[in-house]
Amino acid sequence: MKFIVCENYEEMSKAGAKIIADLLKSKPKCVLGLATGSTPVGMYEELRRMNKAGEITFKDVTTYNLDEYYPLAPDHDQSYRYFMNHNLFDHVDIDKSRTHVPNGLAEDPAAEGAAYDKAVEDAGNVDIQVLGVGQNGHIGFNEPEDALYVGTHLTSLTDNTIEANSRFFASKADVPTKAITMGMGTIMKARKILVLASGKNKHYVIENMLNDRITCHIPSTLLKTHPDVIVICDRAAFEG
Ligand code: F6R
Repeated sequence: MKFIVCENYEEMSKAGAKIIADLLKSKPKCVLGLATGSTPVGMYEELRRMNKAGEITFKDVTTYNLDEYYPLAPDHDQSYRYFMNHNLFDHVDIDKSRTHVPNGLAEDPAAEGAAYDKAVEDAGNVDIQVLGVGQNGHIGFNEPEDALYVGTHLTSLTDNTIEANSRFFASKADVPTKAITMGMGTIMKARKILVLASGKNKHYVIENMLNDRITCHIPSTLLKTHPDVIVICDRAAFEG
């Protein structure tokens, strides 16, 4: 696991965008695994700028997002499909039919999860998986538990996550309590993993990713077993 410590959020966002841009240049038909949340917003902004400036193209790119609230319609303004359209897809030259977010209205979430994993595999697996981390160490919505799931599945959000994400909703009661998320196995199949973390409230997680232990109670620590992980964080996340 390689750590890059940036001075601030902007620098972190640009460093993350450069890694994605380098992949798009060397492998135009790549598969990106994408995340939502506050952390990657600046990186998506920089990628939009680079696309507009003609520095990169998304023409042949395929994407798979990590997760989606359940149940939530794709056109709901807090859905992760809406987030991705708004922050990236609507503003770059991507073919939207090649962008994928788990279906937050799937009648059979288990079948949706299995089909999602198969689609990722059929696409040749993810080249770079972008991850943010929860304050409790969740990645995707793999929340701290005694045992974690391998494949994409329906999960319940912890109170800590519902509280943290309530900032985007009218009230805490409006936050969906479930989500469909890629499992740890789906995430680990990515050839490269790019973790972004910003702010003091991510320090606990970063600290635990730096030591030599792994635990399902801080799911991001499992990334230590992946051969190619880059963590880009700002000084506040690194030093606390
Ligand atoms: C988002 C996701 C989550 C977030 C995490 C951090 O698709 O899977 O794991 O990355 O909750 O969220 P922010 O960036 O808002 O702190």
